[in-house]
Amino acid sequence: MFAQRTKNLNSSFIRDILAVTQQPHIISFAGGLPDPALFPVEDLKQAAQAMHQNLGSALYQYSETAGLLPLREYIAEHLTVTDSKRENIIVTTGSQQGLDLVVRCLIDPGQKVVVEGPTYLGALQVLRANQAELVSIPSDDQGPDLEALERVVKQESIGFFYTVTDFQNPTGTSYSLERRKRLVALAKKYNFLILEDAPYAALRYTGEMLPSLHTLMPDRVIRFGSFSKIIAPALRLGWINAPQEIIKVVEKLKQAADLHSSGYDQQLVLHFLQSGALKPHLQKIRAAYGERLEIMASALSRTMPETLQFTKPEGGMFIWATLTTNESTLALFTAAVEQGVAFVPGEAFYAQGESNNSMRLNFSNSPIELIEQGVQRLASLVNREQRGTQAASA
Ligand SMILES: Cc1ncc(COP(=O)(O)O)c(C=O)c1O
Repeated sequence: MFAQRTKNLNSSFIRDILAVTQQPHIISFAGGLPDPALFPVEDLKQAAQAMHQNLGSALYQYSETAGLLPLREYIAEHLTVTDSKRENIIVTTGSQQGLDLVVRCLIDPGQKVVVEGPTYLGALQVLRANQAELVSIPSDDQGPDLEALERVVKQESIGFFYTVTDFQNPTGTSYSLERRKRLVALAKKYNFLILEDAPYAALRYTGEMLPSLHTLMPDRVIRFGSFSKIIAPALRLGWINAPQEIIKVVEKLKQAADLHSSGYDQQLVLHFLQSGALKPHLQKIRAAYGERLEIMASALSRTMPETLQFTKPEGGMFIWATLTTNESTLALFTAAVEQGVAFVPGEAFYAQGESNNSMRLNFSNSPIELIEQGVQRLASLVNREQRGTQAASA
């Protein structure tokens, strides 16, 4: 009864385990969520009032597929670092829809797409749903293994390389400048496209901003932005910044998919942006999340055994912790939930299940006291398991 493409659909593992971790006694580092207590609710209320006053009933009318013109202009002018024009922008229903539309524009069933191991699970879902053949290459704290990428692209042409260059979900790491430049050079040499997914780029707490791949090579990079992490995810608004020829085809697909993203939400975001509320709001969330990152990293350093190594990102929402003993974190997950703390086992983020000894820890969604407590709970468990392993092998 069902079409071929439904064979590759799998419900997100994370969504399944989130249901388990949402019980009130559990301190959850599992979801990739911003903190609702920090949403700019008052500013959004004022924006809502202003848009009703300005637009009256016209607010509720159909609008353009590509997105409201002043919103696209604002994005092109203020939220991109290249000299993008509004013709290079299309507003999407979350950056997730942007990913889906671009994948459908570029990939035929069975075509090869290269991703990193680990990578964003939602991208894997989109790629699988669109029947891409996934090739996973390893990455380290500087970015992807470019020798591995070259081996793939040398042999055959690929649809594109998908990446999150800044504060990756799930590892939190960002590409070094040198790796960015070499990747761009490789894309030019072998003539492939890059999808640069950047929902966390504005959430930098320390260190210096580095040029995006899109800045380095605007004609071959399709960049995805999102209002989910910088305003609120319920708005379901994101954008694509790409060469105009790609935007035009994406626009046709989007028209077929949903005519346009919610005009109400776009006006709300536009009024919010035009009121000047974004800048102070970003300062507020950067300060809060930056502090939570510090608290989680120092709690991990204090309490975990040496066999647990973790990344210390400069932004974003995640720390990635790895058991150097190579034990699976899947069994640890069940024990952790029993102890009242949750994380996402790392295996879910690998296209080919290459590795299972890591875990993703979210620090943006829990207040400081709970971060301390949650890490304590997790550390007593990891310490106990490690002692058990040592005793068994003695
Ligand atoms: C890397 C990455 N891309 C895209 C998304 C989807 O974001 P949006 O809410 O804009 O659809 C997420 C959400 O967590 C993400 O982590």
